Amino acid sequence: MPETFQTPQGTFDVLPPDSRTYETLVARFAGRAEAAGYGLVLSPMFEDIGVFRRVGESTDVVRKEMYDFLDKGNPPRHLALRPEGTASVVRAFVQHRPPLPWKTWYVAPSFRYERAQAGRYRQHHQLGVEVLGTEDPLLDVEVIALLVGFYDTLGLRRLTLRLNSLGDDTCRPPYRAELEAFLAAHADQLCDEHRERFRDNPLRVLDCKRPACMEATADAPWQLDRLCEPCAAHLARVEEGLTTLGVAFSIDKRLVRGLDYYTRTTFEIASDALESAQNAVGGGGRYDRLAEDLGGPPTPGIGFGTGLERIILACSAEGIDLRGTAAIEVFVVDTTGGLAALTITHELRVAGIGADRAWDGRSFKAQFKAADRSGAKVAVVIGPDEIERGVVALKSLRGGGQVEVPAAQLIEHVRTMIHDAD
Ligand code: HAM
Repeated sequence: MPETFQTPQGTFDVLPPDSRTYETLVARFAGRAEAAGYGLVLSPMFEDIGVFRRVGESTDVVRKEMYDFLDKGNPPRHLALRPEGTASVVRAFVQHRPPLPWKTWYVAPSFRYERAQAGRYRQHHQLGVEVLGTEDPLLDVEVIALLVGFYDTLGLRRLTLRLNSLGDDTCRPPYRAELEAFLAAHADQLCDEHRERFRDNPLRVLDCKRPACMEATADAPWQLDRLCEPCAAHLARVEEGLTTLGVAFSIDKRLVRGLDYYTRTTFEIASDALESAQNAVGGGGRYDRLAEDLGGPPTPGIGFGTGLERIILACSAEGIDLRGTAAIEVFVVDTTGGLAALTITHELRVAGIGADRAWDGRSFKAQFKAADRSGAKVAVVIGPDEIERGVVALKSLRGGGQVEVPAAQLIEHVRTMIHDAD
């Protein structure tokens, strides 16, 4: 017996009809992003590992979860599968220097060697936007509102938006030093991981969900209370813009996020319909230093990523079905041997009508079964007798009757029947 194989741990196949949910989400997201002036960026699924190291040497994503490998070059190159979309887009910006502001969107398979569980996978798929070239806080509002509006049109209601500011090069370093001193004084109360590692990235301790860290940091100093004047003004303007658009949010001084490149605005949208460990549906923020860190000119940036799988989980938890209707409208049932079905499906498809057929000279009954399964609204029935008389029979698959029409008028009659079935 040959060996059989399954998807690797933490990955999955998406099969029809469930895959239609992915199509719907990508199409709707693309429509909204394009209508707001964002253009699609396609970038390689793997990059020089240096691109992703800029995401943060102290983050789990870089430290523990990178799918990295040496290629077959001589000398070999150290590459990594993309764990997220932002670093690749910023690398592309530095490489190509498009005119600013550069407004982009993407759909990107992303790879993280995570502990696989529901809602946390080793390959997930992110929809996202990234904008480079403006510091305007009202852009932050546009970006956040785009994400909130997208969820809203899907029908998601049980979402909450949390917002924070992580400061900039002026106010973050003194704050970080203050926080580090605070954590050093409370080190024995921190969780096992952070007791050893809090100096790598003191801010991450604030985001730690373990009770020990949460208690130990209850009276920690907060970046939010120590923003410099320009950062405070930036945040105030973002709040004003969100309020103007009627986007509900709450300020969360603990919100740090899992990647190191963030400056100023950070945000996360969570679903209370999901398990709390995987309830983040989307998140993002500013990364005003990242372009420079990747060797480009100083260029501010902001964006978000939202996982298709998390959206789908949140939708199903809220009873939302995004599979939509089948694209097949007509099924051709041919008892003449199959050539008639070949030409008629071709004719229908050329006319822009979704059409399918059965194979292998199946029986009339089996073909009708397939027609029902296809989701078609109309069956075109053709046998030797119809061919002889130059007609076809059209049968409504939604409980209507059957009519016979001249073969030459097939398309117009089919259109009318599809219309009537809607
Ligand atoms: P992130 O928060 O790491 O941010 O990921 C964004 C979203 O991707 C999450 O909210 C979640 O929906 C989904 N996601 C992440 N990891 C997994 C996983 N292992 N399994 C399933 N879904 C997952 C970023 O990646 C940033 N690049 C977002 C951003 C864009 N910031 C600025 N621009």
